[in-house]
Amino acid sequence: MADSVIPDPARIRALVAEHGAPLLLLSTQTVRQQYRKLAQALPGVQLHYALKPLPHPAVVKALDEEGARFDLATNGEVDIVRQLGIAPERCIQTHPIKRDSDIRYCLDYGTRTFIFDNPWELPKFLPYKDQVELLMRLSFRNKDAQCDLSAKFGVNPSEAHELLRKAVGMGLKVRGLSFHAGSQLQNNFKYVEAIGFCRQLFNLAALDGIALDTLDIGGGYPVHYTEPVMPIHYYCHPIAAELERLFPGVRLIAEPGRFISAPAMTLVASVMGKSERQGRMWYYLDDGLYGSYSGKLYDHCDYPFLPLAKLEGKHGAERLSVVAGPTCDSIDVMYNDIMLPEMECGELVVSPMMGAYTWASATEFNFFPKTTIVVID
Ligand SMILES: Cc1ncc(COP(=O)(O)O)c(C=O)c1O
Repeated sequence: MADSVIPDPARIRALVAEHGAPLLLLSTQTVRQQYRKLAQALPGVQLHYALKPLPHPAVVKALDEEGARFDLATNGEVDIVRQLGIAPERCIQTHPIKRDSDIRYCLDYGTRTFIFDNPWELPKFLPYKDQVELLMRLSFRNKDAQCDLSAKFGVNPSEAHELLRKAVGMGLKVRGLSFHAGSQLQNNFKYVEAIGFCRQLFNLAALDGIALDTLDIGGGYPVHYTEPVMPIHYYCHPIAAELERLFPGVRLIAEPGRFISAPAMTLVASVMGKSERQGRMWYYLDDGLYGSYSGKLYDHCDYPFLPLAKLEGKHGAERLSVVAGPTCDSIDVMYNDIMLPEMECGELVVSPMMGAYTWASATEFNFFPKTTIVVID
């Protein structure tokens, strides 16, 4: 949990007394610190915070004050930046698949940079040819990443040159290339390989008279959940060096999401009920897999978990336990066979590192509402 910042237990108890449980405690100071760390590790790269892991106005506002830019994928995300008065030229729209109405929504706001990764997307831009600037997304498969985003998006590198020529041949303005090397990616050399391929494509394009001037290296930067990861400065060192060597003078973009938001939010939930089943203690929390722990399913993520009493150093002997969510579905189990001190109904538990792809993908199944986010600083 090296990246996490758990609020003081007394503060947690006071916040629950004020707002009730469950709660997601959001620290905008942590958001700022994460942004600064990444900005230092990737000098000269324009960081566009990808709103999808935590599309919360307080996060966007704090990052705007830090000088960040923004990566938008949907009209709802456009609404958030618009309401906060973010300059549209500080944003890019990165969803490879769009409806005409999505393109128009973004252009009405004033954001002009879009992504494409297939020939069927290109005619959609023709009515707005004089306004849009495009980046072509490449697919670099990566089965080791927690989420291999190139499985769904990006043109195969072997077809990329032809697609680029097609787009330019249709009179569209293509400014550069983009990729997403995989989310929560441990292997930083995957970026280095991708950057090398992009250089070759820049060179091939130049031979065709196509002058590309932008490279977008996407998101993916990992954080410490339950397993340690390389400190971000070391992680980015070979990436920054390769960018400096191969792309001098080129506009460089990154789209970090998880790295900025994951450590910034801590979940506090309470034990709604307990039982003993087949020799294990079962604890049913007021938040679960259909709620803030949805990332366990969708993001393939495992979050730290501990009773608040343990943080305070007040706990008894541990027993083999199961931790489940509040809904009536039996899939709604977060931790199987975990050693925990015996807890009573009403006791509080915490999961730090819950800022990315958690609340954002939570549902309201069984009418358990999405957990309230409280900004704590
Ligand atoms: C296009 C794009 N950019 C950036 C991100 C953020 O990635 P990460 O949270 O791994 O930094 C995503 C995640 O889905 C994405 O799809």
